Amino acid sequence: MTSFLEGNTCIVGLQWGDEGKGKIVDFIAEKADVVVRYCGGANAGHTVRIGNEKYSTHLLPVGIFRPHIMNVIGNGVVLDPEALLKEMDEFLGRGLAISPANLRISYKTHVMMPWHKEEDALREAAAGDQGIGTTKRGIGPCYADKMHRTTAIRVADLQNEAKLRERINRIATDRSKVFRALYDAPPLNPREIFEQYRDFGRRMLPFIDDTSHLLIQAFKAGKKIVFEGAHAVLLDVDHGTYPYVTSSNCSALGLYTGAGVPPQTVKNFIGIVKAYSTRVGGGPFPTEQDNKIGEYIRERGNEYGTTTRRPRRCGWFDAFAVKYAVDLCGVTSIALTLVDVLSGLDHLQICTGYRINGVRMESFRADMDTLADAQPIYETLPGWNGNISGCRTFDDLPADAQRYVKRIEQLCGVPISMVSVGPERSATLLR
Ligand code: GDP
Ligand code: IMO
Ligand code: MG
Repeated sequence: MTSFLEGNTCIVGLQWGDEGKGKIVDFIAEKADVVVRYCGGANAGHTVRIGNEKYSTHLLPVGIFRPHIMNVIGNGVVLDPEALLKEMDEFLGRGLAISPANLRISYKTHVMMPWHKEEDALREAAAGDQGIGTTKRGIGPCYADKMHRTTAIRVADLQNEAKLRERINRIATDRSKVFRALYDAPPLNPREIFEQYRDFGRRMLPFIDDTSHLLIQAFKAGKKIVFEGAHAVLLDVDHGTYPYVTSSNCSALGLYTGAGVPPQTVKNFIGIVKAYSTRVGGGPFPTEQDNKIGEYIRERGNEYGTTTRRPRRCGWFDAFAVKYAVDLCGVTSIALTLVDVLSGLDHLQICTGYRINGVRMESFRADMDTLADAQPIYETLPGWNGNISGCRTFDDLPADAQRYVKRIEQLCGVPISMVSVGPERSATLLR
């Protein structure tokens, strides 16, 4: 076992998502016993390439591709049963084994209801160009109901059908009034919703468990646990570029509450970082290249959303923002992904800081107004040519690619332990 993987590991995106977390979780899951999702919902899209097969997961933990692994959907997730069952059916149809022997869902997990998705879409439409650019998967409204408490439904509530009917009736009636008043929307049909969710509940029943207890027992038994972060630090509801964020604590800091484990459970925090920057949806993005460079990166990196297929905004690597994320999460090492995408550019720029009104900022501030005025300070490095996806050791990389990786390492202040040069498992260089 590589030394940086001894002990339990949290995988966390350090930018605005889509850093290749799926690929790296799948890679290190080879040596794991348990893989846990602890935040977000079907707004996530994690891609795994196994041979010629490509899989996109939205709710299932990526350990589902290795038969020996127990996969856990933690309480911090907002679970859309329709999306989960669709994903399970797709993978079952493709020959994967999914049963309570390799999948458990926390009874404390909050359930995504049709009115959450409707409210997300209605709010975004009403906001026009002031919208967040959400995935319209109902994420914000579902987390809001979790905090409201009396209007929330948890996985445990699916187990009691009489109570579920009563709750759905009450909440749907209330929501219909609000949607009508605010958006002139037609009423919800509580009976139809109840029947649909009753059936979802019946299918999910065998998977429901006390997963916090399961994880604590696994830890005590010396099992190897991988915490699969979704989204990323700059999308964290507290620490990201608010309000252009998602609604969960999707930095590493959310794992304790979202999985239900104490801090000493986790030893390694591997930050996943792509060799440039991307972002989907609205919000500040100081190093964005809305030009030929951005297009070059988008086409070579196939930078289109895994969940919504939207073109991702692309730009230069922002070491100033990533260093903030490294420090916030106590990142112990970095996996640098998609390095192959940058081949063929004459030169590369790395942002090392921001200036506001001519003054260099001392530290990154995840604040909308600050970032809107931030002028990136760049240093320029030479590019390299040729396809590097076939490289299998770090030393195989062109000297200028090695130099680029080492400069990022220096600026982030933690070792880059993995370099990814292609979507496949084998295109992962360990250092
Ligand atoms: P995630 O949300 O962080 O799991 O990332 P996504 O799966 O949404 O997006 C990452 C994309 O990059 C996927 O299509 C991956 O198959 C792909 N990918 C991951 N690592 C590499 C790499 O090193 N090189 C290339 N070319 N593609 C990669
Ligand atoms: P993975 O796990 C990229 C973005 C959305 C939008 C904002 C809020 O694949 O890296 P939401 O639907 O969550 O309310 O949308 O957050 N967003 C992501 N962007 N990758 C993700 O996940 C994302 N999850 C949410 O695009 O800007
Ligand atoms: Mg993604």
